[in-house]
Amino acid sequence: MTTANEREILLAVTGGIAAYKAAALASRLVQAGFGVSAMMTRAAAELLGPPTLAALTGRPVELSLTQEENPIPHIAAARRAKMMVVAPATANILAKAACGIADDLVSATLLAFPGPILMAPAMNTVMWNKPATARNIRRLSEDGVHFVGPASGHLGCGDTGAGRMAEPEEIFSAIERLFPQ
Ligand SMILES: Cc1cc2nc3c(=O)[nH]c(=O)nc-3n(C[C@H](O)[C@H](O)[C@H](O)COP(=O)(O)O)c2cc1C
Repeated sequence: MTTANEREILLAVTGGIAAYKAAALASRLVQAGFGVSAMMTRAAAELLGPPTLAALTGRPVELSLTQEENPIPHIAAARRAKMMVVAPATANILAKAACGIADDLVSATLLAFPGPILMAPAMNTVMWNKPATARNIRRLSEDGVHFVGPASGHLGCGDTGAGRMAEPEEIFSAIERLFPQ
């Protein structure tokens, strides 16, 4: 059985426009000495090329629950890392995680992950202000999930308001604070 190494992080990227900032976060983590394994949802991989994260982490990026060479990728990934970070976290992954849905690699790994989970929500202001999103955040907080952001400001959709993903440096600080010693 593979067990978690020191300073091993699992970075899950979901399909928000802020996915490009996940590259800066991955780079920051690697430069700080973390081992970073990245996984992406299908939607995320349409917004940010997996080779970018592969190059920055020095590891292949996992994209699917079914892999020939890795028969149970969500369990293997969950065992490898000490902390899981979802950045950006879409409204969709918040809803799925709040309900315990495990129908793709990222959601299944979230359910299989035993350690601390940090999410950096990012979405349009109307999506962020919906009662469903507030309910999902509340439920996940009650389940012990940690959050960083979102901030208010310019959004990828052109609006200004709440829903902007926390900056990579702020997410990095939250990781340093929460990472199990
Ligand atoms: C260009 C583009 C940008 C998007 N940005 C966001 C976003 O910032 N936040 C969000 O919650 N959804 C966003 N979406 C919608 C999600 O991609 C969509 O809900 C998707 O199903 C999320 O899947 P995932 O959670 O599995 O990654 C965006 C969609 C597109 C096409």
